[in-house]
Formats: sequence, structure tokens, C-alpha cells
Amino acid sequence: MKQTVLVIFGGASTEHEISCQSAINVIENINSNKYNVILVGITKEGEWLLVKDISLIMNKKWYESRIKALLLPDAKMKSLLVEGTDNKHSFYKIDVIFPVLHGKNGEDGTIQGLFEMAKIPYVGSGVLASAVAMDKVYTKIICQTFLTAMGIKQAKYVSFVSKQWENQDYCIKFVEERLSYPVFVKPANAGSSCGITKAHSRAELIKGINLAWKVDGKIIVEETIVGRELECAVFCDKDGEVKASDIGEIKTSSGFYDYDAKYNDPCSETIVQTKLSRENAEIIRTAAKAIFTALGGFSLARVDFFLTKEDVVFNEINTMPGFTAISMYPMLWEAKGMSKPQLIQNLLDTGFSR
Ligand SMILES: Nc1ncnc2c1ncn2[C@@H]1O[C@H](COP(=O)(O)OP(=O)(O)O)[C@@H](O)[C@H]1O
Ligand SMILES: [Mg+2]
Repeated sequence: MKQTVLVIFGGASTEHEISCQSAINVIENINSNKYNVILVGITKEGEWLLVKDISLIMNKKWYESRIKALLLPDAKMKSLLVEGTDNKHSFYKIDVIFPVLHGKNGEDGTIQGLFEMAKIPYVGSGVLASAVAMDKVYTKIICQTFLTAMGIKQAKYVSFVSKQWENQDYCIKFVEERLSYPVFVKPANAGSSCGITKAHSRAELIKGINLAWKVDGKIIVEETIVGRELECAVFCDKDGEVKASDIGEIKTSSGFYDYDAKYNDPCSETIVQTKLSRENAEIIRTAAKAIFTALGGFSLARVDFFLTKEDVVFNEINTMPGFTAISMYPMLWEAKGMSKPQLIQNLLDTGFSR
């Protein structure tokens, strides 16, 4: 008997569009001889809709679906409740969930809490690891001790919640006493560079912070790290063995890897198996696995670093990295000989092993 995979995509997140692109790649590579695939799209407003076919994601018509599909929290049912006409609802049994969701409400532990309650196996990190990895401040706090032990740095930073910003002068002084311009201003919880700016002056700092509040109620201001941007894909197999890919590099023609550079700029380059000394590659691979393990990660993550003239600097970890056609995570594994269908199968296996 075929098992049923529920793919959830979209999401009430600033990374909604990226999730839809990622989902197309995931769905196309699920073995349909082995699995029934059910698609549920979450709109930006948080509505759950049954999506009949992948083509509706490709042509962005899935929003027109009027069939609600709700994942039930009941651990005995393990089901999706699908709305029918005349109030005749159906229950679809779900064997495993692949939440192809990035950012808030999808990669931050919220939806993982629902999966836990429903006791349905799922791909990706659990509640706490997702929440910590999503929050750039907590990630830094959790990783600090053992990164120091490994000789790996993190950018110096300060952080505020919006309540503290009521005393703006104090906050600015706090930043300027600790960091020098230019600084990076980021929402603590976001992704795909949403709400991130580089501030070269006090005026830009204030502007950047006010922009970041639109995305999150907590911000982080970091010193600028000048160096190469390197990424490592981590995969934890169904037996719990954590593996790291070779190192990829992103090169951008604009000042930093912002949303446009990531998804719209043809000059931005993604290089798998970049040129790197064997020693630095090994340091980064080891660090990527250690960070994943320390956070209690599950299934997969992409861990991002800077390499300066002197140091390896940890930047961030993504527990549901992009899966779009130009995304680093699947490409790094392809370069290691793991095809996309095989990668998706392996990820589903990790879900089942929960
Ligand atoms: N401290 C920093 N120094 C230099 N560049 C940075 C720094 N922080 C972020 N950037 C640039 O901004 C991009 C997005 O920041 P990142 O922390 O990765 O957030 P996101 O979660 O949105 O990807 C990075 O890929 C990098 O180009
Ligand atoms: Mg990033």
C-alpha cells in the first residue's frame, strides 16, 4: 500500500513566495510510485487550502481553491480534515508531513508544535531547535560557548525588543559604544534577507531599525564582517548520523546578499564545491555538524559562514533551507552524488524515523 505524504507550502511568512518555489522542487522529486502526495497551501493570511495539482502552484492559481484542508491536532486521527460540499467532510490519513515552509510560522517551531500534538512523523527540526535557529539572537547565545572552544567567531552584536526602542537615544548610544559603522541591522526572526539593511551612519541605523520592526518585534545589530560567504549542507540520516556536504559559496554583485541578489539578480552566483583550503573546508564542515547537533537539529539544515582573512565566522543556520531551482542545499548534495529524488526520499525516511 502506498503511504501518504502531506506537503505543506506557502505560509504566513515573508518567505511565502520562496516556499512555493521550494515546494515545486520537492513535489516534483517525490516518488509517486511509492507515495500518494497531498498538497496543502497556506495563504499569507493563514488560510489552509487543498491544492489539487502542482501545476496550480506553478501558475499561482492555487489561491483560488475554495476547499479548506485542516490538519487535526488529534493524535488518534492523524488526519487532514477536507471540507466537502453540503458539509460532508472527509478525513485523509497522513503518514508523514514535509513542511516546505520558510521563516515565521513554518520554520520557527509553531507548525512543528501542531505536528507533535497530532503525533504525525515529519521532516525537519522539532519545536525548540526550529525556534532557536529561527531567532538570530538565541542562535548566537546557544552557540557561543562551543564555537569559542572550536576557535570560530560570531559577529559582535547588540539586540533590542521594540519596547526598548521607546528610549531611542539610549539604544543608539548602546550600539555606537559597542560597534562601529557600517553595521548590519536585521529583524531577529526573518529570512531571505527580509528587513535587513546595512547602515553606514546614525541616520541609516535609525532608518534600518524602523524598517526591521515591520518584520519582527526584536532586532539585532551586527558588526560588518568582510569576507567570503560560505555555506554547508547538513543532513542527519534516519540512523542519526550527521553528514556535511562540501562547501558552497555565494557571490553577489550588490553590496550584500539581499532578497534581490538572492532571487532576481542574474549576476549573483552560487558555486558548489568552491575553492578553499582543505583545512578551512574541514573546519567549516566540522562546525556545521557541531552547530546542528548543539541546537538539537533533525533531518537537515544549511549552516552559513563568513571566511575573513583571519577567521571562520558563523553567521546563521536555516532548519528548512531553500529548495528552489537555484538553492544551495539540494545542489550541494547533488554535487556529492545524491540526486534530488534520492535526497527527498532520504528526508522522508528521517521523518518516518522520528
Ligand atoms: N554581520 C554581517 N556582515 C556582513 N554581511 C552580512 C552580515 N550579516 C548579514 N550579512 C549579509 O546579509 C545577508 C543576509 O543576512 P542573514 O543573516 O544571512 O539573514 P537571512 O536569514 O535573511 O538570510 C547575508 O547573506 C550577507 O550577505
Ligand atoms: Mg542568510
